[in-house]
Amino acid sequence: MAVMASIRNIVILTGAGISAESGIDTFRGGGGLWEQHRVEDVATPEAFARDPDLVLRFYDMRRAAIQTKEPNPAHTALARLDREWPGELLIVTQNVDDLHERGGARRVLHMHGEHLNAWCTACDRRHRWTAPLIARPPCPACGSSALRPDIVWFGEMPYRMDEIYGALRGADLFVSIGTSGAVYPAAGLVRNARELGAQTLELNLERSQGSAWFAETRLGPASELVPAWVEEVLGAG
Ligand code: APR
Repeated sequence: MAVMASIRNIVILTGAGISAESGIDTFRGGGGLWEQHRVEDVATPEAFARDPDLVLRFYDMRRAAIQTKEPNPAHTALARLDREWPGELLIVTQNVDDLHERGGARRVLHMHGEHLNAWCTACDRRHRWTAPLIARPPCPACGSSALRPDIVWFGEMPYRMDEIYGALRGADLFVSIGTSGAVYPAAGLVRNARELGAQTLELNLERSQGSAWFAETRLGPASELVPAWVEEVLGAG
């Protein structure tokens, strides 16, 4: 492991792999289909314009499904690190479930949005939302029926990139957990981190498309690798 003594500020990037052992399917781990539609064909502004009911039904199903899942030891280990780490720490997640928060983490940034939010495209407010959207419920703020999933679709800009790049500028260590490195800008963050002088570590079930950019890659399930790594970091801190 990197020389821990010089580590003060940590940025962690997580992907679907950290929620896999909680029973939430990854995007590219086999299936990836829903009612014979590829996820890439449903998670787009064009699909929403063409067939809003199809897209709303897809996200209603996902929003309901995640509420039946529980955080796994990888989520709770990161929450422990969040609580106990004396320096800066930011968990940048590509995931749209709330398992980091339910596992106890606080410093979480959802760059691809959140299933449990609804976004009103009329008044631009976001509301915590656990129910279906298919019946076009009125926006609690403006009353319009213009609520959509608060999910960053393909072709849309991820959220809060300025904050992410700002955190990377101060980072001594960048850790990537459970992501295939297939989707940018998330997949490029490790290169930003390296260029800015951070140490880099990847924890993943298998080698990812970005593995060559990491100084160290550990292969295995997140529920085992993450608690062990957190123990190591807190022990050396
Ligand atoms: N522990 C650790 N890693 C795992 C586990 C596990 N139990 N199970 C799977 N993985 C790894 C896989 O090896 C793979 O590299 O998690 C990664 C999941 O990759 P993807 O399914 O591509 O998910 P992700 O990288 O988060 O996708 C990025 O793509 O579809 C878009 O917006 C969507 O946020 C998503 C983005």
